[in-house]
Order: sequence, then structure tokens, then C-alpha cells
Amino acid sequence: MQYNFDTVVDRSNNFAAKYDEVGRKFGRDDLIPLWVADMDFKTAEPVIEAIRQRAEQGIFGYTSRPESYFEVAGQWLKKRHGWDVDPGLMIHSPGVVPSLSMLIRYFTDPGDKIIIQPPVYYPFFDVVRSNDRVLVENPLKVADGQYVMDYEHLEELARQGASMLLLCSPHNPVGRVWHKEELVRLGNICLRYGIRVIADEIHSDLIYSRHKHTPFAGIAEDFRRNTITCLAPSKTFNLAGLQASIAIFPDKKSRARFDKVLGDLDIRRNNCFSLVAVEAAYRYGEEWLEQVNRYIAANFAYIQHYCRKYIPEIRPNYPEGTYLVWVDCRGLGLDKNQLHDFMINKARLALDDGYWFGDNANGYMRINAACPRSILAAALEQLRQAVEEHIR
Ligand SMILES: Cc1ncc(COP(=O)(O)O)c(C=O)c1O
Repeated sequence: MQYNFDTVVDRSNNFAAKYDEVGRKFGRDDLIPLWVADMDFKTAEPVIEAIRQRAEQGIFGYTSRPESYFEVAGQWLKKRHGWDVDPGLMIHSPGVVPSLSMLIRYFTDPGDKIIIQPPVYYPFFDVVRSNDRVLVENPLKVADGQYVMDYEHLEELARQGASMLLLCSPHNPVGRVWHKEELVRLGNICLRYGIRVIADEIHSDLIYSRHKHTPFAGIAEDFRRNTITCLAPSKTFNLAGLQASIAIFPDKKSRARFDKVLGDLDIRRNNCFSLVAVEAAYRYGEEWLEQVNRYIAANFAYIQHYCRKYIPEIRPNYPEGTYLVWVDCRGLGLDKNQLHDFMINKARLALDDGYWFGDNANGYMRINAACPRSILAAALEQLRQAVEEHIR
């Protein structure tokens, strides 16, 4: 089936955070929303059909997850990433961020140090702080125009002791798909100093051109034993509102420990729609994913071309993975508050501010490129006009 991602879907009645919370978050309603990471595209038709059929049953009682649910997820990981995972080591969780928070709470102790690598998805800061752990930052560096990990600094931090490292792979917001060699260097440091790795691989199906996602836990047996991976079909297939993710444990014992946490909170079950949607997505969604990834990559090219030609002060990256474009706006000469104000009150855009992702990201903004090109075109035109007025 051929999908048409140019179609603008009216989300005014969609109860969409991305649209309905703009006023509350940015102080005015008349902004083009390119912030929170969901897509303005309808998901794959087989997923919609599975939900439709489930809805028509008209009974939405407690669910019982069939074994096929995790088996299909395992087949997906094998096919897309060449990674063999025992479905018996998978567990359902309502979201990756809830998993991160529960893992911190139940697999470390209060006061323990947890390492993150900013600029990074800002809930990484929140889950550490809100669970009374000590946040330790190993900022990414820029080398030859690209973000890389700082292994020397990481080793220094590791030497001072840390219990856990939150790895973002691919890395939101800078769009890096970490090479195997990069992950091996990081993983070896963590092994050497007894630091458990939580690999957030939620963006791992959104990969472009020659890049290839390497599942961190799939690199070697000692890495596997030291890692808990969190992933989900929610970014891949635009299903965030269904609240279903998967965590993958190294052994039955640690899985059972997490299962007890879920049991205590009584959140072990899928809701009735995620149950059928996730399985349909992993079983039948690949055709849609191939097409949406091509469309998003063309959006990246469109943004680059537009900025080069009309707004050279704005320098977007071309992400290797994720659908989030990391935009260097330092050419505008604005501080972080001025840039925030400029995007809202001059360009009329709702974007993620760079500084939300860390102190080393002032002057940057993040644009969500998973939308019809006409929306991007309108946003870039508003940005161009605002920049022209600012510079004149
Ligand atoms: C790196 C990363 N992890 C987790 C999430 C959110 O996951 P969930 O909605 O399953 O909590 C996002 C969403 O943007 C993300 O970028």
C-alpha cells in the first residue's frame, strides 16, 4: 500500500498534547507546533484496522497478553537489527520514561550517582533528580562538526563511582546513531567500573541513509549482562497515546524484580488497544515504516536546503536517526531567553528550546520534522520572515 504523508490530518479534535497544550506551554495559541515528539501522520493501516476490529467487539475488559506479543517484538528486533532476544526476558511497561524512573528507584539506592550525556532528552535529568539520586553529567563534545562522547571525562567520572548510566541510542536531540565502536568504548568503561547501563533505544527504528542502529545489549555477552534496554513501538509507529513499551532484562532474576514493581503498582497489563496495536505494528507495519522514513529524510533535506538558501543564519543538522532536527541558531546572536521569545513571538513557532536538554545547548532549538511538508514549509517561511526582520 502506498501512503500519502503529504495529507494534513486535522488534529483539532484529536486531544493532542502537541496542539492543545501549546497555549499553556508557550503562552500563546497561534503557533505552529513542532515540539513534542509525535508524528502528524496517521499510523500504518494494519494498526488502525486492528484497533477498529477491537473497538467493534464493544467489550473492553481486563486484558490477557498472549505469548505472541513478545514473540513478534523479538522477530522485529531480529529482522530490523539482527538482535536475538529471548521473549521471556521482555516485560511490558506503560512507557519508557516510567521504566527509567522505576529502574532508577528499584535498581539503585538514594544518593547513588547516575551518569547522563547532555544535551539529552530532558526527562533524563528529571528521573534522576526526582528519585533523589545524584545527577552526574558527561557532556557530549563536538569533534569535526559532529557530537561525540567524551570517554576521558567519562572514565574520570566512573573512577569516582557511579551506579548507572542512561544511554540514549540513537541520541535525542542531536540525532547521532552511535557506531558500534563508540558503544564498545562506552560499554567497556561501564563494565570496568561496575556501572549498569540503561539503554533507551526508543528511536532505534528511525534511522536514515547509510546509518545502522547497533543494539547496545547485542554487542557482547558481558554487555548484555550489564544492560537493561528500554524500547517501544510508540515513536516508530506514532502510538505514544497507547502507552505501551518494552523493557528487556539480562536475566530472569532482574526481570522478576521489575515485574514485582509493576505488580505492586498493578500496572502489568496492556490496555486493550495497545495489545492489538503493538502486535499489528510489529507484524505488518514495516512497509509503512520504510515509507515514513523516506518521507522524513526528504523533510530533513528540505529543511537543510531551505535554510541554506533563505536563512543561512539558521543551521539545521541532518539527523542520522530520530525525526528531530537539531538547529544551531547561534547565528542570530540571541541569548537563550531572547531566542525562546524570538521563536514564539516573532516566528510564531512552538519548538523545544536547546537549553531544556542541558547547559551546553544554548542557542539551539529542536524541530520535530515528522509532519507533512506543507506544515514545515509554512513554519520555515515564518522563520525566514522573523529572521529578516531581526537582522534588518
Ligand atoms: C529518548 C526518549 N526516551 C523516551 C521517550 C518517551 O517515551 P515514553 O513516551 O514511552 O515514556 C522519548 C520521547 O520523545 C524519547 O525521545
